[in-house]
Amino acid sequence: MNIISSYSIKGGVGKTALAVNLAYALCESGHRTLLIDLDPQGAAAFYFRMGSAKKLRMQDTDALADGLRSNIRESDFPELDIIPSNLAYRNFDIVLDSMSKSRKRLRKVLEEFKPEYDAIVLDCPPNITLLSENVFRASDAIVVPVIPTVLSQRTLEQLTSFFHDEELPGDILRPFFSMVQKRNRMHRDIMAELPLSYPGFLKTVIPFSVDVEKMGLHRMPLLAYATKSEAALAYRALCNEILGKAVTQP
Ligand SMILES: Nc1ncnc2c1ncn2[C@@H]1O[C@H](COP(=O)(O)OP(=O)(O)OP(=O)(O)O)[C@@H](O)[C@H]1O
Ligand SMILES: [Mg+2]
Repeated sequence: MNIISSYSIKGGVGKTALAVNLAYALCESGHRTLLIDLDPQGAAAFYFRMGSAKKLRMQDTDALADGLRSNIRESDFPELDIIPSNLAYRNFDIVLDSMSKSRKRLRKVLEEFKPEYDAIVLDCPPNITLLSENVFRASDAIVVPVIPTVLSQRTLEQLTSFFHDEELPGDILRPFFSMVQKRNRMHRDIMAELPLSYPGFLKTVIPFSVDVEKMGLHRMPLLAYATKSEAALAYRALCNEILGKAVTQP
């Protein structure tokens, strides 16, 4: 019970901000953590001052596991390792499609890393692809940032329907509100209603904060440079809430 994915069909909702700060918060609370950047944009690794991964051979599961292993880098923080992404990841879907059991390959690859880490965090690209389906089948929890707007709400509904249609376990979906502006009436209204339809909705709310936006300048998790800020406290609370259900304590 230790693979946590930061995922949404929608772009720009706070997936990478979550992945980076969740990975850091997990380490702070004593979990040996591996953050894998699955998005060819490479933003998660950028926030840890890392370049892209070496090119991977991806012809079969063993080659993929070996390639990922050879790209594990130590971060500047104890017990936190990173696998940066690579532009070649844009071909993940084609490679997976050519394999048998193509929806369960990532799970098999990640099994290999489980003995060494207490938690694995996946930063996922937006969209819903064969790679996403692999993520769904590999994850113990899929944490979904939802900005309290109509379009974000709609993509959460699409994701839930997909899980239902594909007979995937809906209880691993853990949405939470991201970039919340409490003064915004629409945010308040959606926040009052939406969680009523989703039993797994996390209670912790991540506020909209310039401290989070500054991660690009500091190139480190918010928790490392604005450790007591409102948003940092919220990410820690979110981590604890996720741990309560998703991860076996070390
Ligand atoms: N709580 C927040 N408050 C203010 N800005 C935020 C917050 N969370 C994220 N941001 C900013 O919003 C932008 C998008 O965030 P992020 O990159 O985490 O989203 P994403 O879902 O990973 O995007 P993509 O789909 O492109 O991967 C970034 O500039 C980030 O700094
Ligand atoms: Mg991202």
